[in-house]
Amino acid sequence: MSAVLQRDSVTAIRGSVLTFTGDPSVEDSARSMRYESDAIVAMYGGLIVDFGAAAEVLQRLPPGTKVTAYAESLIMAGFIDAHIHYPQTAIIASPAEHLMDWLDRHTYVAEQEFSDQDHAREAARVFMRECLRAGTTTAAVFCSVHPESVDAFFDEALARNMRMIAGKVLMDRNAPQKLTDTPQRGYDESKELIARWHGRGRLSYAVSPRFAVTSSPEQMELAGSLWHEHDGTFLQSHVAENRHEVDRVKALFPERKGYLDVYDHYGMLGSRAIYGHGIWLDEDELARCHASGTALAHCPTSNMFLGSGVFDLANARKARRPVRVALATDVGGGTHFSMLSTMHDAYKVARLGGRSLSAAHAFYLATRGGAHALCLEDRIGSIATGMEADVIVLDLKSTPLIEHRMRHCKDIDEALFVQMILGDERATRAVYIAGEIGWTRDERVSA
Ligand code: GUN
Ligand code: ZN
Repeated sequence: MSAVLQRDSVTAIRGSVLTFTGDPSVEDSARSMRYESDAIVAMYGGLIVDFGAAAEVLQRLPPGTKVTAYAESLIMAGFIDAHIHYPQTAIIASPAEHLMDWLDRHTYVAEQEFSDQDHAREAARVFMRECLRAGTTTAAVFCSVHPESVDAFFDEALARNMRMIAGKVLMDRNAPQKLTDTPQRGYDESKELIARWHGRGRLSYAVSPRFAVTSSPEQMELAGSLWHEHDGTFLQSHVAENRHEVDRVKALFPERKGYLDVYDHYGMLGSRAIYGHGIWLDEDELARCHASGTALAHCPTSNMFLGSGVFDLANARKARRPVRVALATDVGGGTHFSMLSTMHDAYKVARLGGRSLSAAHAFYLATRGGAHALCLEDRIGSIATGMEADVIVLDLKSTPLIEHRMRHCKDIDEALFVQMILGDERATRAVYIAGEIGWTRDERVSA
């Protein structure tokens, strides 16, 4: 670490640290996972500037640097939620028969209120608070169709210096009139939002056609062009979540080979394209995701809540054509902001499908794996010198039951498994955003 660092400006934290250097579903966890039982992470200028065994890092810190110690905790990279809808925060836990019924009865009603900027701002604040409480430091976020909803969201994210990805939903058919734009209006408004927000602070824009059901061919065409015209932007949408939805898309686009081919046709696949769900994609479609670098966001709490189906993560990650997969909550279809709870349901979904999911793999998906899916693994998702300092501290004994169960853990793999099955947002002890404390459990700092 450079000697010019001032001791007052370095934030140093000490405790057990977990991070990933590779994918534990590909290489064994001894090679892909790094666990240090007593380490220091030093942060300065928004970045991690030192990480290693405490005894070594202590020698290198500027003399007199204050070191905050977190006992019985785990320091790790902030969680990444690769697919979530902030306007749906207030309708989380709303029952329905299935996806389309849920959209009509709850989602489309709630999203209409986001034409009001004050309403949107308040919702964005609640949303950020819940993300921070859950230890989520980056999310790929759908706003509503209204540009006001995007301004409110990015304003709040900028104020917290968070790395966030978001965009205005595009919809020009099969939705209530108050929630529809037109192909040209959606294009123009998105373009203005990109100019205003993309690359500002740590914000990135995502062109966000809701899904093929609610966009005409003309809108899809313009959405694909818009994405290609703006370097570094993301594209996010939904694909193959529900079997009736798949049939509907086939009926709406009969000339296409299948659901994914609709997006392919309009140039919407590739690196930085991320699609929620993908439960019902077939082998050819998964191969196409792999070949194009398209990512899928696995949303287990949502898939179980809406009864959408059982995503086969192991099949999606098949060694000869691994698809980039991230983990996501999909709130408000999803039922929890907590990525620990989401890992818990990912485990159960895997078991329902006759598979398993190791804790190391689940923690990887929620951190470095998510960053890889979003093509951001050189910036976020792991603890290493030069990475952005989005760091969380998990309490390993956050409830009496967990405390009791942890007494019987023999190694880190078992401890991680217990955390993923029993833990939730109560485990989040502290959250550092770009090296600054953004939230602590006992005291709300900026949320
Ligand atoms: N498909 C289209 N829109 C949505 C949405 O808001 N949530 C979910 N889960 N699926 C969708
Ligand atoms: Zn969604």
